[in-house]
This record gives sequence, structure tokens and C-alpha cells, in this order.
Amino acid sequence: HRILCVVGARPNFMKMAPVMAALAALPGIEGKLVHTGQHYDVTMNHQYFQALGIAAPDINLEVGSGSHAQQTAQVMRRFEPALDELAPAAVLVVGDVNSTLACALVAAKRGVPVIHVEAGLRSFDRAMPEEINRVLTDQLSDLLFTTEESGRANLLKEGIAEERIHFVGNVMIDTLRLNLPRAVPVGRIAADAGRPGFAAGGHAVLTLHRPANVDDAQVLRRLLETVAQISDRVPVLFPVHPRTRAAIERFGLMPLLDRPAILLLPPLGYLEMLGLMRDARVVLTDSGGIQEETTALGTPCITLRQNTERPITVDEGTNTIAGSDPAVILAAFDSVLAGAGKAGRIPHFWDGRAAERIAFIVRDWLVQR
Ligand code: UD1
Repeated sequence: HRILCVVGARPNFMKMAPVMAALAALPGIEGKLVHTGQHYDVTMNHQYFQALGIAAPDINLEVGSGSHAQQTAQVMRRFEPALDELAPAAVLVVGDVNSTLACALVAAKRGVPVIHVEAGLRSFDRAMPEEINRVLTDQLSDLLFTTEESGRANLLKEGIAEERIHFVGNVMIDTLRLNLPRAVPVGRIAADAGRPGFAAGGHAVLTLHRPANVDDAQVLRRLLETVAQISDRVPVLFPVHPRTRAAIERFGLMPLLDRPAILLLPPLGYLEMLGLMRDARVVLTDSGGIQEETTALGTPCITLRQNTERPITVDEGTNTIAGSDPAVILAAFDSVLAGAGKAGRIPHFWDGRAAERIAFIVRDWLVQR
């Protein structure tokens, strides 16, 4: 049985790595990797593959950037012939990026079963492109694997048949646990950036890339002003996503970040990012995955969004939803520094074995079909 596994953007790579490994361990199953090329910069792409030990993709569709319609359409056009040529028993997609939906749609229309890993997450905010990708991908999927129990309830409400849904835990946390011993300490990252000792007394990490935060000049300015205030108390390391760097430059906001206690970094490799989060006093982010990774690491997380599709990180983990209001962010930050942040516990099945569960269920399902 051949399974075509699709990755496109940075957050897909660390989810797919353990799934490919678990499939490879099963005789009679052959995983083939397709990279759509949605992310293509060395820093967004190659250094991830290397760090995670993923084999080079069998196929690279090299779609690159574009509007959502262009990007989605390009992936679909280029994925269809690859699908026909490889004739897999199923297509396996992860997460919620444009490549996820595009390939799921092509497969479904070709009558090829779709497997969705990280199904059922819902922010209930259709202004997020990922929310649209999630809802539609789940509607197209034959087998849906959830990371937390909220996913099952969301899927049932949308009419997904119960027998298609399997709660298996979080494959991204499989990757985190496997690689934690190799995480790069923050001291080395600062030294490599020419600022040895920058984070010696503790540090905060910032990541920002969501359109709602970075595409609006007023919102972005307020966020960066808040970060400047935070840096008066704890030095801030800020790996800058290409989209965010472009926005900061376009809006002329770079001077706000020109401070001794703010260190701008290029997008980091997986092991660097892991070390940065592990060693941090607090992480401020609008990412989805980082909310989960900080919960798994026990590092306090302040989420710079109005909502989360990952409620377990708030209910059980270390996550606090703060939005983009400076007063709310600073209050959450104060509370973490005062030691009143959330201790959190590790959610059920975030145990490093999610991909193994997935592989066994997929195999049994293929055999029964
Ligand atoms: C995508 C995902 C988002 C995910 C994020 C992680 C969608 C809808 N969004 O957002 O869910 O959290 O990846 O990074 O799929 N760019 C580069 N080099 C690259 C890739 C992108 O410079 O290798 C720049 C381009 O200017 C591009 C912009 O970043 O236009 C946005 O890239 P895109 O892939 O469209 O979305 P992301 O914002 O990265």
C-alpha cells in the first residue's frame, strides 16, 4: 500500500517526520513524500528537513508564493499529475495550510481516500485562512486523527461520522520529545548572532506572522511597542518570519525594534527554536504550533490572538490568550514574571507515540478496505 504524504509549509515538516518514520516501520506500507514548495527559502525549508532527518521529498511541486487562490490553484494543478502517476492507496495531509486543503481536494475528486492528521481543531474564526482550510479538509477526509478531545466534538457537530475519528495525540509532540536532547541552547544562538551573553539572565521569545497581526500597520505598531516595553524587563529574542519582516519594513516600524534588549534573528531551524522555547521565561506568539510546544515544554505562553483552536493548551497547558491589547498582554507578562503563570500539565496522549498509533490505525483501515 502506497501512501502519499504531503508537506508544504514549515509547520508541516515536524508533523510529518514521525508519521513517515512510523509508516516506514510497517511492512507492506510505503510512504512517499510530496513537498508542494509553498515554503521554499532555505531558512523556512531545507534546514528543517536536515534537522528532522526527513529524507528529501520524492517530488517537489515548487509552487512558491502567491495569493491564496493562486497558491491553492497551483498546488492543485501540479499535484494532480503526481497523484495520477503514483496512484497511491491514500493521501495523507497534516495541519491547515493552503497545501493541506489543495491536495486533499485533488485527492477527493480523484476518488483517492484522504487521511487528515491534526483534524478537528477550530478557532471558529473564519477570518483566519487556516480555519477555512481546516473545515474543508475535514469534510473531504475519510480518516481523521485528532490531537485533543475538543476535535471530536467539533467534527461530530459538522456531521463527520464518528467511526472516521480517532483521538491519537499530537505528532508534533512526538518530534519535540525525540529532538529535545539535541535542542540548541539559547546561549549558542545568541553567540552565533554576535551577542554572547544576551540571554544570560533569562529571556523572552517572540514570534509573529499571522495576517491579522502583521498586515495591519496599527495593530503591528501596537504589538511592537508592547514588545519594546517588555524588553525593558526581559531581553527579547525575535526570529522574524519573512512576511513579518516585509511588513515591518513596509510600515517603517524597524526603529521600534532598534533596542539593545531586542535581538532580531532570521527564521530559525527546528533545533534552535526548540532550545529557545525550552530555555525561555516566557514565549509570546501568534503561532498555533508554538502554543502546543510551550505546553509540552512547561514554558509559559502568551498568545497574541483573540482565540485559539487548541483549547487544551489553555485548559490544561501553560497558555494564556491575550489578543493584541497592550494592557492585557502586559498584565499576562507581569503575572508570569511574578511567578503566577500557569504551571500546566501535559495533555493526554502527548506522549511521543501519536504517529505510531496513527500508523497502526491506517494499516488496519487499508487492510479492511
Ligand atoms: C503559512 C501558513 C500558516 C503557517 C505559516 C508558518 C497558509 C494559509 N498559512 O503562512 O498557517 O502558520 O505558513 O510559517 O498556508 N515567504 C518567503 N519564503 C518562503 C515562504 C514564504 O519569503 O519560503 C514569504 C512570501 O513573501 C509569502 C509570505 O511569506 O508571500 C507568506 O507565505 P505563505 O506560505 O503564503 O503563508 P505564511 O504566512 O508563511
